[in-house]
Amino acid sequence: MKIARTIAELRALRAGVSDVGFVPTMGALHEGHLELMRRARIDTAFVVMSLFVNPTQFGPNEDLSRYPRQEARDCELAAEVGVDIAFIPSPDEVYRSTTPTTIHVPSVSERWEGAFRPGHFDGVATVVAKLFNIVAPDVAYFGRKDLQQCAVVSKLVHDLDFAIELRFIETIRESDGLARSSRNAYLTRSARRQAPLLYSTLKTTAHRIWAGADVRASIQQAINTLVTAGFQVDYLALVEPASMDEIDKPTPESRLMATARLDGVRLLDNIPVQEE
Ligand code: PAJ
Repeated sequence: MKIARTIAELRALRAGVSDVGFVPTMGALHEGHLELMRRARIDTAFVVMSLFVNPTQFGPNEDLSRYPRQEARDCELAAEVGVDIAFIPSPDEVYRSTTPTTIHVPSVSERWEGAFRPGHFDGVATVVAKLFNIVAPDVAYFGRKDLQQCAVVSKLVHDLDFAIELRFIETIRESDGLARSSRNAYLTRSARRQAPLLYSTLKTTAHRIWAGADVRASIQQAINTLVTAGFQVDYLALVEPASMDEIDKPTPESRLMATARLDGVRLLDNIPVQEE
């Protein structure tokens, strides 16, 4: 695996190569990230991964400075799954302008996570557009765990005519159901024991809804279960994944999603309503 730290190095290594798969990440790689890279390895001839803790998608009171950083280990893991190039730029390499252009993806980025984290999706959309222009992949891979991010990137690609195919990969979980996340490392031991309740509650609720139970009542019941167990629920809703619109009748594509805090750590999860 080659490492590129500048845009010029990346472009030189990528020149003349076709059928490129791309996996953007912020590092602290776990099985979720590695699954995206394995899929890219299977599907495409050449795999690029980026490792960049993007400052513009963190709010002023968020965890930018304590976000886990482990570059050497990340490079070992990425090399093991067959990544060809790791693009690891510095913030100064990525953000060279004092008056930077920002991309705002309207509507879909403004609700749910966008409402709790103002500016977050502008940071995501802008860095993803920049990385797409730098790497120029044929296919890019994103995890469904970040459901709204998938919707924002889909609209970005559609509205700005990126000639890139997007592939979304289902969430990889711990054996007890907790969705893999770099932020799980922040959980205290007792919060870690509680955390799988988010997934099990989503599963029970999705099952009920798909079997015909009232959506609003089922959601309220799920929120009560989580709150009783010590979670602070930011939102729990049945949504259409393309628009992120809340719906009150399940469809085959619809997903049940939730964000809840446990000891101050925000846990995001979502599942298809049909298969559960
Ligand atoms: P990061 O949180 O590092 O995630 C990188 C990719 O891995 C995202 O597409 C995310 O959805 C996916 N991912 C994370 N956990 C997963 C899991 N348990 N199963 C499957 N996929 C999982 O998302 C970002 O970085 C950033 O916003 C980024 C797109 C890189 C832009 O800065």
